[in-house]
Amino acid sequence: MDYKIRTKVKSIVVDEEVPLGAEITILGMVRTIRSGKDVAFIEINDGSTIKNIQAVISQPDKFPILEEILTGASVRVKGELVVSEGKGQKFEIAAVSVDLIGAADATYPLQKKRHSFEFLREIAHLRPRTNTFGAMNRLRSKLSFGIHKYFQERGFCYAHTPIISTSDCEGAGELFRVTSLDLKNIPLKDGAIDWNEDFFGTQAYLTVSGQLEGELLATALGDIYTFGPTFRAENSNTSRHASEFWMIEPEMAWAELEDNMDLAEDFLKNLFKYALNDCPEEMEFFGTWIDKTAREKLEKVINSTFERITYTEAIEILKASNEKFEFPVEWGLDMQSEHERYLTEKKFGKPVIVYDYPSKIKAFYMRVSDDGKTVRAMDVLVPGVGEIIGGSQREERHDVLVERIKASGVGNIEDMQWYLDIRKYGTVPHSGFGLGFERVIMYITGMANIRDVLPFPRVPRWAKF
Ligand code: 4AD
Repeated sequence: MDYKIRTKVKSIVVDEEVPLGAEITILGMVRTIRSGKDVAFIEINDGSTIKNIQAVISQPDKFPILEEILTGASVRVKGELVVSEGKGQKFEIAAVSVDLIGAADATYPLQKKRHSFEFLREIAHLRPRTNTFGAMNRLRSKLSFGIHKYFQERGFCYAHTPIISTSDCEGAGELFRVTSLDLKNIPLKDGAIDWNEDFFGTQAYLTVSGQLEGELLATALGDIYTFGPTFRAENSNTSRHASEFWMIEPEMAWAELEDNMDLAEDFLKNLFKYALNDCPEEMEFFGTWIDKTAREKLEKVINSTFERITYTEAIEILKASNEKFEFPVEWGLDMQSEHERYLTEKKFGKPVIVYDYPSKIKAFYMRVSDDGKTVRAMDVLVPGVGEIIGGSQREERHDVLVERIKASGVGNIEDMQWYLDIRKYGTVPHSGFGLGFERVIMYITGMANIRDVLPFPRVPRWAKF
């Protein structure tokens, strides 16, 4: 069978490239089928667009195969492209032949009705066939391209940092271990596990961030970015946390915190513009069904200036508010989601960059400020989601960094020598940040749960499919 002769539905109904009267072949899945005495209609979706194409079959009694075609089946329809007489579509196919390629029976779970997101998570192997998850997967693909385009056009080098890592960049201990040891027969030395016997001769993990290696590359290459999977074994069952998510991490040599904030703001605005201009079909879908304000919300942000406040100012604002927060507000304590949301949703009504955090609550690699109490960290907060970017200017002074590593307990100095060496030999001021891809998709689409913006989410107690 020659599948190459197929015409993609997108080229007909979206791009309108196919001339009327053309003889075409459609390969796709049946969304609905209605058979009458004189005419039958099959709505077919082939995944190239959210839109279906309708095949019209006159004299259905001459097509006994129609009896066997149910929702969910895959079919091949050949026919002539004609102007549709029905409402809701411009074109349809006047079918001359219909073949059933793969039958589906009445147990097919995606019948024509709205299903809850909870139900669809249980059938994540089939949900890409729905409008929402078709649109989501196409949007992920397009935004990924938009992200590469943004950085490539600005001379950033796409860097591939390792997925298997021996360090805990964020120092939070939320690591998935990678081992090839026989768990029934673990080698011991002096009563403890002998990691020397493990695959890498040392303990290894899935990376929580490509930043540390990103810094090595940036200080050599100038501006780099990573875009890859990231893993965190944090046992937080929230709508914003996944155990495996994708992160975009630009890292710039010769850049201070202000340059970092400028890049973060410009990058986000450009990504929102890309969503509006280059993903119109997906934005229309999410704007209609998920978040009616989606377009207007992004346009407002594109035309706004992000609010920039220090952590100290943020604490003062939170204290002065009359809000009843669940968690305490005190200088030196980490801000909770409710605090971040107050600032970005209620106080400013737009994205907020909070910077200069207390050193005690931030990672060891952040540059210590002259006050000795704060570090040059920044978080970008957006309404509805909270933190979507975390970043900092990095500590480029060798001796200060040695002290920070010692104080943080992130590892011993010998093991971190490679990281210290770029400060020992020709140190360079540098800065970067990490954007959670799923968090920004949640913001763009208005989808409320991170489990519904990943094709196959991994969260505590769930790694199916
Ligand atoms: O603030 P984080 O932990 O920063 C870093 O990992 C830095 N090393 C980045 C850098 O400076 N190069 O994480 C960055 C972003 C967060 O703002 C959030 O958007 C996302 O990654 N993120 C998560 N997204 C989904 N699920 C999780 N469990 C996430 N943890 C962080």
